[in-house]
Amino acid sequence: MSKTKTAFFCQNCGTQFAKWQGQCTACKEWNTITEEVIEKAEKVSWKTTNNKSTKAATPLKINEIDTSTEARLNTQNHEFNRVLGGGIVPGSLILLGGEPGIGKSTLLLQISLQLPYKTLYVSGEESQKQIKMRAERIHKNSQNCYILTETKTQNIFRQIEELEPDIVVIDSIQTLHTDYIESSAGSISQIKECTTELIKFAKETATPVLLIGHITKDGNIAGPKILEHMVDTVLQFEGDRNHVYRILRAHKNRFGSTNEIGIYEMQGSGLREVSNPSEILISKHEEDLSGNAIAATLEGIRPLLIEVQALVSTAVYGTPQRTTTGYNAKRLNMILAVLEKRAGFRLGAKDVFLNITGGITVDDPAIDLAVVAAILSSNEDIALPKDICFAAEVGLAGEIRPVARIEQRILEAEKLGFTTIMVSKYCKFPKLNTAISIQKVAKIEEVVSFLFG
Ligand code: TYD
Ligand code: MG
Repeated sequence: MSKTKTAFFCQNCGTQFAKWQGQCTACKEWNTITEEVIEKAEKVSWKTTNNKSTKAATPLKINEIDTSTEARLNTQNHEFNRVLGGGIVPGSLILLGGEPGIGKSTLLLQISLQLPYKTLYVSGEESQKQIKMRAERIHKNSQNCYILTETKTQNIFRQIEELEPDIVVIDSIQTLHTDYIESSAGSISQIKECTTELIKFAKETATPVLLIGHITKDGNIAGPKILEHMVDTVLQFEGDRNHVYRILRAHKNRFGSTNEIGIYEMQGSGLREVSNPSEILISKHEEDLSGNAIAATLEGIRPLLIEVQALVSTAVYGTPQRTTTGYNAKRLNMILAVLEKRAGFRLGAKDVFLNITGGITVDDPAIDLAVVAAILSSNEDIALPKDICFAAEVGLAGEIRPVARIEQRILEAEKLGFTTIMVSKYCKFPKLNTAISIQKVAKIEEVVSFLFG
């Protein structure tokens, strides 16, 4: 009997070591190295039957390479297509990561049911009955979608050979295991090996494979970092579980831009595509409320008008509270300091609460000016005009700084019926044929006198 071969792997970065050690020398993480069984069998092939040996590749002149067969598969889901850069590229491996319960399985099942191609949805997490129940919940049925509950890659490939699907969905990569490796499912060597087999399969048959991947508590896709290097596209499904909006983002895309985002709304009957997000992120109040301001932000390259709400009140306890949702708390403190020092507002003894509506987290610095406006509006208890929005960064000296892609923000604001947009005087203004009034400001004092006279 042959001796079992083992090796040590860092669970964080996937580096292999000959013996155990406390710290990984590659990624410097402590206590991440564990022993895994690696039994090298004969050369791994994705096919189960004795296949014809694959053709050896020959070099081709780049202008002679035929790309006509590379037509992308339309998923019938506009947001998903957009994030991928226009559809699924044949033979590509797409990894979808996201927190548990965010809706990864729902999204891919919904897409599988919409696809006009023969689709095989392999689940290692739910039974066929459970998946059917989910499909009934999202009110979709399909003649082309096959469901398989299996975790062993060899069995999956056997089914694939029989069924010959056009697209394969795997939920999830962490539940798969291959016969060629002894260690348990979800371990680094299993994930690596199963992904390698799937890549071979995808590239040899030009069948795209969509993989669901779990993420660790710090937000990375569980498994070695090299998993992200191996696949063609890494998508991330994000959102606050207590809110209904979800954002699909491309972290890596070999066949498209990583700037595009897709927005969905989780409903009782599945995920609804949100094609005009600005309209729903702005609440329609009947009466004017103080403390509300609209920011013209960008998510990737997509303009998004977002409502900022602030509440400023006299602190009841000794230390004033500063609470934010969806906005960086340190940045709020900075803005409060700027307002105190440069515009003379006494906010030091006030509680300040700041909330970005819709459960969205905004990193775009262009939201700063709307934060300032919302805080001042709540502090003065004067509502801002409903038809004004803001797009500028605020600097430490109280200067109003320009932001990128101002043209797109102005156009989006106009499209949604705003009559005034406040921006930095220092923006490079393209020639725009717009009716919206562009209010240019350079300093925080100008903002205050414009808004509150
Ligand atoms: P799921 O796709 O199972 O998440 P993941 O695969 O990322 O772990 O989504 C589960 C959540 O979505 C669950 O809390 C219920 C909710 N949900 C809806 O709100 N509406 C629906 O139509 C479906 C199918 C799920
Ligand atoms: Mg799931």
